[in-house]
Amino acid sequence: MTILGIETSCDETAAAVVEDGQNMLSNVVASSVDLHKAYGGVVPEIAARSHLEVITPVIEEALTTAKRRWSDIDAIAVTQGPGLAGSLLIGVVTAKSLAMTKNKPLYPINHVEAHIYANFITGSTLAGYQLLQKAPALPLLALIISGGHSHLIYLEAPGKYQVIGRTLDDAVGEAFDKVAKLLGLPYPGGPSISHAAERGNASAYKLPKAHTDGPYDFSFSGLKTAVLRTAQTAAGHDFSLPSTRLPALLTDKQKVDLAASFQATALETLVDKLAKAVDDFQPASVVIGGGVAANKPLRALVTKRLKTEVEYADPRLCTDNGAMIAGLAFFMAQAGPPAPPASWDVEPNLAL
Ligand code: KG4
Ligand code: ZN
Repeated sequence: MTILGIETSCDETAAAVVEDGQNMLSNVVASSVDLHKAYGGVVPEIAARSHLEVITPVIEEALTTAKRRWSDIDAIAVTQGPGLAGSLLIGVVTAKSLAMTKNKPLYPINHVEAHIYANFITGSTLAGYQLLQKAPALPLLALIISGGHSHLIYLEAPGKYQVIGRTLDDAVGEAFDKVAKLLGLPYPGGPSISHAAERGNASAYKLPKAHTDGPYDFSFSGLKTAVLRTAQTAAGHDFSLPSTRLPALLTDKQKVDLAASFQATALETLVDKLAKAVDDFQPASVVIGGGVAANKPLRALVTKRLKTEVEYADPRLCTDNGAMIAGLAFFMAQAGPPAPPASWDVEPNLAL
């Protein structure tokens, strides 16, 4: 079964063609990240407008690279949510129009659930991808961490899963982005914090790990505030100092030490919860996806703390892409035909 997957939930316009949820024939991603840099975060209106500009060429390139015509495509899949309303709308309206004019079934996809399926892509006609040798053994435990989500999911079989942990406030990637902004480091914050942290001392500042009632839940908003308070104090001011003045007042040493201390605390929090879940659930495999999975110190900490070996999909499949959307749709298709397109709409807050 050959599926075209379309993803537009945030700032990446993506389309991919995947066979049977495992063989990736194309994976095209156009990111508007550079357009958001000046603002220190994703601007929804800019993201939506750039989706509109590039979605048609992105889909055409996905088909051309895959060497497939419309007549070869068995189904279309598109991210229904969660995500930015305006961004989701461009993908969904495009997918619905194509489904109607090309007469294809259309699968609405949950973006967070789809991140897991990036790990089921084990073959590709594309050169240069580092793919998993085989699909992860089930039941699996997935840690999905990005700018929009921090979830721990226990998956027994495709479609049969339990969300055992989620963030109560900010997603971890969002915390990286916000801390980077207050230290005056460029957007996206994950790579720039990580880069700065290489020169910093992670034990320079003691930052708190949040306590949550749910044993596998996360909370990063308190940590972000603790970085702000620590930075204001380090700059020699009280808590009334606006965060916008911090980059000019902090020394380079203070910035890299704060970045390293923040990163270490955030990563320890993630790995503490993951390690507990692995002990409690004893999954057959563990996968980590989402943009934050690209973080190298995270990978090192996971290796140190977990007995179970963790495999990572290629970085281009960890961040937002259309292949994971097409991948999940294949497994959904095994369960039956999709709901008619007129019966559903974008769901910016779509839950798992
Ligand atoms: O999956 P993704 O591309 O988009 C979302 O669905 O959010 O993830 C982007 C997020 C951003 O918050 C970015 O700062 C973070 O992933 N990120 C990282 C790293 N690379 C990207 N966070 C920590 N360390 C990294 N190396
Ligand atoms: Zn994502």
